[in-house]
Amino acid sequence: MEVRRDPRSFVLFIILLLLLNSPDTPQQSFSAHSRFEETIAEEWAHLSILNTTHYGDFDAAGDKWLNLTGLRDEDGYAWDLLGGVKGRVKEQVRMLLGEKAEAVLEGDLDDYTSLEMYRNISGFVQGEWVRSPLGRVLHPSDINASALNPLNPDFPIAMPEYDRNLTGMGGPIRVHLSETEGRMKTDENRTVSEVTARLVIGDDGSFGGNWWEFMLNGVHFPRFGGVVLTTTSDRFAGIFALPHFQISQNLYSSAQDLLNWTIHDTIERQTNRVYPSWNPWTSTLDGSAESSAMNPHCEFVVYLQEHPVQFQLKPEQNPTNGQIDMGWLEHELRYPTGSPLPRRSALSMSMVGFSPNCGFVIESKGPPEFARSVHTHLAGSKTEEFADKARHGIIAFAVTLSLQLMFLVKQMKETATPSTRNRVSFYTIAMHAMGDGFSFLALIFLHLFLGSSQLPLFTTAFLALFSVVFELRFLMDIWTVQATERMRQDRQQATTATAPGQTSTPTPTPPPPPPSDGTLPLPVTAARGGATTPPIIIPSDGDEPLGNPAQATTTGETDRTPGRAELGALYSRYCLLLIGLFFLTLQFTTVRSTARATYFNIFCFLYLSFWTPQIYRNIMRNCRKALRWDFVLGQSFVRMLPITYFYAVEDNVLFSHTDVRALAVLVGWVWIQILALASQEILGSRFFIREGWAPPAYDYHPILREDEEGATMPIGSTSITSPTSPTSTLHNPDDNSEPDASVPSLSKPGESKERGKKVFDCSICAMDIEVPVIPSGGDGEGAAAAGLGGMILQRRAYMVTPCRHIFHTACLEGWMRYRLQCPNCREILPPL
Ligand SMILES: *[C@@H]1O[C@H](CO)[C@@H](O)[C@H](O)[C@H]1NC(C)=O
Ligand SMILES: *[C@@H]1O[C@H](CO)[C@@H](O)[C@H](O)[C@H]1NC(C)=O
Ligand SMILES: *[C@@H]1O[C@H](CO)[C@@H](O)[C@H](O)[C@H]1NC(C)=O
Ligand SMILES: *[C@@H]1O[C@H](CO)[C@@H](O)[C@H](O)[C@H]1NC(C)=O
Ligand SMILES: *[C@@H]1O[C@H](CO)[C@@H](O)[C@H](O)[C@H]1NC(C)=O
Ligand SMILES: *[C@@H]1O[C@H](CO)[C@@H](O)[C@H](O)[C@H]1NC(C)=O
Ligand SMILES: *[C@@H]1O[C@H](CO)[C@@H](O)[C@H](O)[C@H]1NC(C)=O
Ligand SMILES: [Zn+2]
Ligand SMILES: [Zn+2]
Repeated sequence: MEVRRDPRSFVLFIILLLLLNSPDTPQQSFSAHSRFEETIAEEWAHLSILNTTHYGDFDAAGDKWLNLTGLRDEDGYAWDLLGGVKGRVKEQVRMLLGEKAEAVLEGDLDDYTSLEMYRNISGFVQGEWVRSPLGRVLHPSDINASALNPLNPDFPIAMPEYDRNLTGMGGPIRVHLSETEGRMKTDENRTVSEVTARLVIGDDGSFGGNWWEFMLNGVHFPRFGGVVLTTTSDRFAGIFALPHFQISQNLYSSAQDLLNWTIHDTIERQTNRVYPSWNPWTSTLDGSAESSAMNPHCEFVVYLQEHPVQFQLKPEQNPTNGQIDMGWLEHELRYPTGSPLPRRSALSMSMVGFSPNCGFVIESKGPPEFARSVHTHLAGSKTEEFADKARHGIIAFAVTLSLQLMFLVKQMKETATPSTRNRVSFYTIAMHAMGDGFSFLALIFLHLFLGSSQLPLFTTAFLALFSVVFELRFLMDIWTVQATERMRQDRQQATTATAPGQTSTPTPTPPPPPPSDGTLPLPVTAARGGATTPPIIIPSDGDEPLGNPAQATTTGETDRTPGRAELGALYSRYCLLLIGLFFLTLQFTTVRSTARATYFNIFCFLYLSFWTPQIYRNIMRNCRKALRWDFVLGQSFVRMLPITYFYAVEDNVLFSHTDVRALAVLVGWVWIQILALASQEILGSRFFIREGWAPPAYDYHPILREDEEGATMPIGSTSITSPTSPTSTLHNPDDNSEPDASVPSLSKPGESKERGKKVFDCSICAMDIEVPVIPSGGDGEGAAAAGLGGMILQRRAYMVTPCRHIFHTACLEGWMRYRLQCPNCREILPPL
């Protein structure tokens, strides 16, 4: 999830905003002022050299030097490499343009429209670079520091390693070119124009995959697609020497003509500014001039040559004999009228670059030295195509956000009662909310980086914000219920510390008083049908105390106020954490690639652990059925989608590196969590936990053992209460709330035909429950041991309350969605 532009500039922007009102713009001291004058004077001097020199005046091999910083003999730069580099560039141009190359370079080609090149190269290209054998290694000691820095000749004493020094044999490279109408200058017939580029270059040979990002300025020859770029600093007057880097007389004079007046303009603007701009051609991203105290860095001169566009035309799309009017194509791309565009190759370029003060020469990886199928020099897309892709990506993300919202709303509807809310893990939803808040911030700030596609961006950001609002609302509901529940438990522990455990004997609480609001609970028979048609007993979720009448009467209002107070803290904590996380992430987008990849892998792993708190809560409370299955599966899928895109799609909009292995780990981790949730649902929430690891919780599905007193058996034996009720003779292990009533029973009521079964009466649906019982006596132990495994599923069919009433699982679960009270005796039930 790397951000496209350097976020340092963004962070700087924020800091700048914060400091905007700070009044201290320090007075330019006299020395700074005179230094600025000196800088300007030097620039004029450099310009006059540009103005007055001729093609071939700079030639290291012929011992011809220019009086420009970095191009003098005594500076010690590796200008002997320039001839070889120019030769490589010419070779590339000849290879790409064929027999037209010479005519193009000398400027006497009659029909430039036969070259199918984009005239506007705003866009990006990326690929790999390799070190060329042409280069050599220069050490800091080779550079004459005193010649470069006459004001401060002793600096640098320690001769530090240069920044941006490429030491490996290869690495990734990406070039963003921009050639903006109006801002960039061009000549009358647009044969040459100014261009700026942002270069992102990585070094495989460095520790941790170091990479740099910097700006270059230069000229573009739109007629044949050549670009020459250079860095400029106070150690290297690159832009003033640019005409001398051209590979032909004609290109030299075009560049000189253009630069003569564009540089003139730039210097004039520089002197008229209120705040001095030290170097208008600086290579730093934020536009500040490098101070001389900073580590010196390697300078770059980069040659790019655009490849002719290849068309895959169908015959009917080919009216002009294979010729496509590039002007029309570019206009159609920029201002679409809906005409079908021919299928064409991506914007591609070859590159040769070299550093005069570090000595390396690099080339783009591609044919003929490397197989075409693997490396194709640099390829990318024009700004318009990229904006299109970004827009599609954003719309797709909006769709995933809406799906996410849909699943959430369904889940919230399902989880409308206190007892169901109690089951949902607060942290699971909080992590979802965190993810959506993060998306919101990222989308809002992305518009600073992607100039276009703003409307979809803001719409999507709005959707993300909408999700956050829903999730926070859900969190608030959950928090209120669970804080109340926690307080109730704390109090219970304090007051009934000596009371016996719930499972061994019935709770000694007296029967609760009737509900205070006068609504009588419906007769239990009204709930016939169980979970399939749950009766609406409580109209709103505000009647929470109904579930706990005893508690409601004793503690009343005091339960809610502390929850609200904590809630405020909760929101501010959420916002702080979110903003902190966002800025931490921004910081990590600028570190070395290995550290960055590690950070994002950990970040995604933690984010995708969102089901783990739910699994944990299920274990601790011995409950299950907290979340709908479409919520679990849908959210997992929908939240994995954007991550999958950034991990698996090669040319994604954020230029993140793909890593399929890490993606496999992430997918596997989500899958494991889903499996854990599923097994908890089917086999019980604690089946993979050893007994004793989790705190004791009431087990609604106990193994029923027959003992002499019947102390642990459920009460309400059918033999007494309903002697006429038909008893199923079928061995029916699964939860069947609708037994076949027509099957006549021959067995004695209360005793199943088979040994080890007992029949009870479910008072919710008034049907029978046949439950397996471990008989007392000699074979009891053996049968218990043998039957334990098989009984896991059978035990899921019935539920026994602490007050020893037994119900069908479906019946009681349906009931407990609305109140946590025994339907028979109104005893408080522990939440599910
Ligand atoms: C460029 O050179 C011409 C003479 O060739 C001179 O008149 C002009 O002032 C120079 N321009 C600059 C900006 O130095
Ligand atoms: C450079 O520009 C000046 C005017 O600013 C012009 O007089 C001069 O001829 C130009 N020089 C060249 C070499 O084009
Ligand atoms: C080079 O230019 C500087 C001013 O920028 C000047 O002081 C110096 O004399 C020039 N050197 C030569 C050899 O022309
Ligand atoms: C560039 O790196 C190489 C290899 O580490 C080193 O030998 C050389 O001195 C460095 N050059 C500069 C100018 O720092
Ligand atoms: C370094 O620069 C100084 C001053 O410009 C010059 O006198 C000296 O000869 C240069 N050293 C080398 C090795 O070129
Ligand atoms: C090139 O295309 C970009 C993107 O559409 C546009 O912003 C820019 O103004 C164009 N430049 C020129 C010189 O047409
Ligand atoms: C621009 O094109 C016109 C017509 O082809 C020509 O007369 C003129 O000299 C050209 N200008 C330059 C600067 O090449
Ligand atoms: Zn039932
Ligand atoms: Zn009861």
